[in-house]
Amino acid sequence: MIHSRVVGTGSYLPPRVVTNDELAERLDTSDAWIRERTGIRQRHIAGESQVSSDLALEASRRALDAAGVKAADVDLIIVATSTPDFIFPSTACLLQAKLGVKGCAAFDLQAVCSGFVYGLATADSMIRNRMAKKALVVGAEVFSRILDWNDRATAVLFGDGAGAVVLAAGAQPGIHASVLHADGSQVGILSVPGNVCGGRIVGSPFLQMHGKEVFKFAVKVLDESARETVAAACMTLEDVDWLIPHQANVRILEATAKRIGLPRERLVVTVDHHANTSAASVPLALDEFVRAGKIRPGHKVMLQGVGGGFTWGSSLVTM
Ligand code: ACO
Repeated sequence: MIHSRVVGTGSYLPPRVVTNDELAERLDTSDAWIRERTGIRQRHIAGESQVSSDLALEASRRALDAAGVKAADVDLIIVATSTPDFIFPSTACLLQAKLGVKGCAAFDLQAVCSGFVYGLATADSMIRNRMAKKALVVGAEVFSRILDWNDRATAVLFGDGAGAVVLAAGAQPGIHASVLHADGSQVGILSVPGNVCGGRIVGSPFLQMHGKEVFKFAVKVLDESARETVAAACMTLEDVDWLIPHQANVRILEATAKRIGLPRERLVVTVDHHANTSAASVPLALDEFVRAGKIRPGHKVMLQGVGGGFTWGSSLVTM
């Protein structure tokens, strides 16, 4: 039987750091309010000329290096993003070209903050079905481009960045089980309700959110999907060494860990210094903890996405 396994991780954060105090200079907010309600103290913001495929390229190079895999040996590229470089072609095709390779399958996946987990489950399925042997799965975002910087309720929450993993076919299970869900009736609580039509923007190009509804929904479905995933893997929550939920808000993360009975020290938190990087948040957090030597080979890690759509899902992975 063929399985897929994470053989390398990488990430990239643009160098420019924006602190809460800096935001408070131009918005009616404060470091104390942002920290208390979200746990966020800073975010990275892409330079004017940097686009999602640039961030994805850096993260991908680091993941390929860590895996000891050449870009030419990758036969599947999936980029999860809600902030693509263009309407088309896909950011995955642009990334492929920047990596200097051609021929392999490449496509974008749009599931907002759940995009990376959706991408991982898709790549795992394709590897197990012999459609690919080595896959690059990337989450890359420049959410700073879809924020209304005059709206204190949303501008303080997000940041830019990218994370990537290389998945390879193997005899031992790396990804034990994944579950994916969506509920399109929740479209109104989190969206960027605009499009380009006849050369102009119709609707709004800025992120709109009902924070309290998002909070409640996120905690509920993160709890449910963690339980569903361990059951699908024939394991229990006690088997999980690390929980990496989508990094939206420290209070959402802590509430989730509490609901599923996981000790705080096994919860991965990076939202304090990355803010919410949407599809990039889970692979960024994974790479940071792998490089710090905290997540080690053999550890079981629960990766969880939740975001606009609403979409949500989890994967249980042995590193
Ligand atoms: N600074 C100061 N005051 C603010 C700010 C700010 N940045 N933003 C909102 N406020 C004010 C509001 O205007 C409101 O004022 P009022 O009482 O005078 O009307 C007050 O603070 C309370 O606002 P609430 O929205 O009730 O605050 P809440 O405690 O719900 O916290 C927050 C808001 C942090 C957005 C919270 O609801 C949350 O984290 N929700 C989850 C949202 C999230 O994570 N979204 C990410 C995208 S979704 C995803 O990734 C899954």
